[in-house]
Amino acid sequence: MNKSVEPALGSNADEALIPKAPYLSQEFLQLEKTRLWSKVWLMACRESDVAQPGNYVVFNVADESIVVMRDVADGVLRAFFNICQHRGRRLLSGQGSVNKLVCKYHGWRWNTDGTNDEIIDQADWGGTLSKDDVALKPLKLDTWGGWVFVHMDADHPQSLQDWLAPVVHAFRNYRFEEFSPVWMRSVTLPCNWKVALDVFIEGYHAQTAHRQFNPVSGDNRWTAVAHGVHSMFHSRVIPVLGDPSPNIKALQGLPEDESLFLDAKDRAQKIHTYFMLLNRDTGALFTERKVRAMARLANELPTDASYMDTLLAMDRLHREEGKKDGLNWDQFTLEDVGAVGLDWNIFPNIAFLPQEDGALVYRARPNGNDPDSCVFDIYSLERFAPGKAPKPQVEVIRDWRDTSWPRVFVQDFENLNEIQQGMKSQAFTVGRANPIAELTNINLHYHVRRYVLGGEN
Ligand code: FES
Ligand SMILES: [Fe+2]
Repeated sequence: MNKSVEPALGSNADEALIPKAPYLSQEFLQLEKTRLWSKVWLMACRESDVAQPGNYVVFNVADESIVVMRDVADGVLRAFFNICQHRGRRLLSGQGSVNKLVCKYHGWRWNTDGTNDEIIDQADWGGTLSKDDVALKPLKLDTWGGWVFVHMDADHPQSLQDWLAPVVHAFRNYRFEEFSPVWMRSVTLPCNWKVALDVFIEGYHAQTAHRQFNPVSGDNRWTAVAHGVHSMFHSRVIPVLGDPSPNIKALQGLPEDESLFLDAKDRAQKIHTYFMLLNRDTGALFTERKVRAMARLANELPTDASYMDTLLAMDRLHREEGKKDGLNWDQFTLEDVGAVGLDWNIFPNIAFLPQEDGALVYRARPNGNDPDSCVFDIYSLERFAPGKAPKPQVEVIRDWRDTSWPRVFVQDFENLNEIQQGMKSQAFTVGRANPIAELTNINLHYHVRRYVLGGEN
């Protein structure tokens, strides 16, 4: 494997070449454990998942198992390796609530602050084994925007705020803590974690994989910006919503959806149709509230309105519909909408898609020691007035075909196994990422290689 440090990212098109070994190689997966996952802040769960004393969430990445837990005594949130200090059994799984952590092998027991509560037959050690010797091993923990992050190195010097600095800045008026999960699904996918994440941090595939939107998505070409290890993509220009994509010449929309657009007479009606379709096909992100606002746009916008007036009316009507539901996001200005863009890669394994009142968050994790498999977590969140958030639907799905998904997910998931297997062919030597639209992917892979191969640590 190439051990040299890669040059800094610039305009050199060669840097857009993405080697295939990091997706496929067992050796690379093993190196990721010690050089990547152990060296970065990792998003573990939502604070609301562990709101009450005794609540816990287990978070596995490759071979590691981590438990985030709110102490029953002092209410402090802490994280520990989820590992019994007797013979190594994992202590908890999934999520739930406990007063003590009890190992199911020989019954050793811990308090929810990680201190040991009981060693069965401790006297047998003749005074050589103390409870202090077997406290659970702590991780560093911090929170931002309602998210809980952990770091496997309990003494890691960089704060979460520093690590996330460009994200914290761009999202400063978003108030992510006002969002609550509506549904959360963890699904095992037949590909490397980087293949799954790749799909969800660029928009270049939308014209083909999600071509139902082409008749009205406007100029949907994309550009991206790297912010150190993190990156973000957004539209290259303000898309002229309601117009066909420039790629419509090569790629029509889906025939079964054509009738949807026949009834739409003017731009405002087409925009309404577009958001209905986005809402239906993602089941997340584009809220019912936004669709209601776009229905008003179709009814209320003067037919001679300029395109800029149309965009301003879309924003105004959406905020008005929010206020009817007790929501006010006026601090999140149109300038902020531009700053958060469409989709962030939070290094290494997270994607944030922030809309005004809906958000999708993805997390990709290696599944044990299998480079051909990953666990993909999807949080669909919405902004709620205080006390109005519903209890989220939480599902763990072994195979993505085991349940029904909104169409956008099916369209993306259908590609994953074909990508993972296709890359193994002798006919495929290197990925050729779009140097503009897929800069997010280029940046991700550059920094993964830097951590894993570049002697960063
Ligand atoms: S392995 Fe946990 S008590 Fe023995
Ligand atoms: Fe997609």
